[in-house]
Amino acid sequence: MDSKTLFEKSQKVAPGGVHSPVRAFKSVGGNPIFFKSSKGATMTSVEGDTYIDFCQSFGPNILGHRDPDVSKVIEEMVQTTWSLGACEPYSLELAEFMTQAAPWMEKLRFVCSGTEAVMSAIRVARGATNREKILKFDGCYHGHYDGMLVKAGSGLAGKAASSSAGVPEVLAEATLVAPLDDEQALEAVFKEHGDQIAAVILEPLPANFGLLEQRKEFIEKIHSLSKHYGSLVIYDEVISGFRVSMGGMAEVLKTDPDLVTYGKIIGGGFPVGCYGGKAKYMDLLAPEGPVYQAGTLAASPLGMCAGLATLKKLKDKNIHQQLEIRTSKWVSELNSLLEEKSSPFVVNHFGSLFWLHKNTGKSISRVEDFDSDMGELYAKLFHNLLNQKIYMAPSAFEVGFVSWAHTDEVLAQALEGIKKAL
Ligand SMILES: Cc1ncc(COP(=O)(O)O)c(C=O)c1O
Repeated sequence: MDSKTLFEKSQKVAPGGVHSPVRAFKSVGGNPIFFKSSKGATMTSVEGDTYIDFCQSFGPNILGHRDPDVSKVIEEMVQTTWSLGACEPYSLELAEFMTQAAPWMEKLRFVCSGTEAVMSAIRVARGATNREKILKFDGCYHGHYDGMLVKAGSGLAGKAASSSAGVPEVLAEATLVAPLDDEQALEAVFKEHGDQIAAVILEPLPANFGLLEQRKEFIEKIHSLSKHYGSLVIYDEVISGFRVSMGGMAEVLKTDPDLVTYGKIIGGGFPVGCYGGKAKYMDLLAPEGPVYQAGTLAASPLGMCAGLATLKKLKDKNIHQQLEIRTSKWVSELNSLLEEKSSPFVVNHFGSLFWLHKNTGKSISRVEDFDSDMGELYAKLFHNLLNQKIYMAPSAFEVGFVSWAHTDEVLAQALEGIKKAL
């Protein structure tokens, strides 16, 4: 059956034919491709076409699809166990590895997604401070927990409105929204609401509305204001954790968040999330303390062993550094090509994350810097790239991922394809 037929059938049994909205190609138009298999840097469609994949499952596959070393460990675990609902040694091994790599995280707990990690970390912050308000930034995404589905509202500093039907206004009102890269606005929000803010949550490398790298001074301001007003700082490292370095952005920035959330890479492609931080906060969790959180499939052995195998390989082979060099070279070649072709696009990158976007002539650090026709232009390029068998994320605002499986040869081949697509 071809992709078109499968999509028609899917629409009858799943809303919009998908299980996560962006997969439906709504923002780029056309029919989504159905993929049946994947290997390394590539995915193969049901039609039998093989694409170079720069989406890589939206981030988890830092080693590429079905890395052979991870695959071996998974196969062994399948022969051992895959769901226990009881104490086991596998999560302990991963937890020890992670707390060593990210020492500001003294204790952690595994959950099944990034959304769950964020929701739980926020609950801990509220439990720790006895305050209700959470401050987030416009241009950061934290999953689909009700309190995070908000947008900047009109009126008073920081007030938010729900951005999804089904989110009660009282929950939206417990969230404040500030712009990125703006110390003054941040100060204004703290001045008005500081004594009610339980925590500030941020992607220390915002990578969900493009790649909006922030100035270190801005991040430091978040820390100093939070400290002054007694609010916790939560780093959402669901994308950046173990992606930009073993210690994620907290290591890169040399900062000390109170709580951190992880997902994607730490499960090696299986549904794993985690939140952690200072023991004095994490010990508030049941069964030790009064903050409740639980999960039937939490710390499922397959995810634990796939995650650990992935993280160990990243460390043992010093992969981050090599990915940085590889990506940096490729991005620079790509930018030369874009310039040569007088393309309206440009690419920026941070480590192995990159963002192909409309060139506005300056670096983009917040949502207000976007040009309004960014999505439309990207949609055209996206389809031209598909014709060249290159798969980018089906949205102008999603970043791309270079994986360990994107060797120099694969990247050179991709560059050739992009040249034709342009
Ligand atoms: C920074 C960040 N936080 C949270 C989430 C939510 O994670 P999940 O999709 O696993 O629920 C995402 C997902 O893309 C994310 O990028």
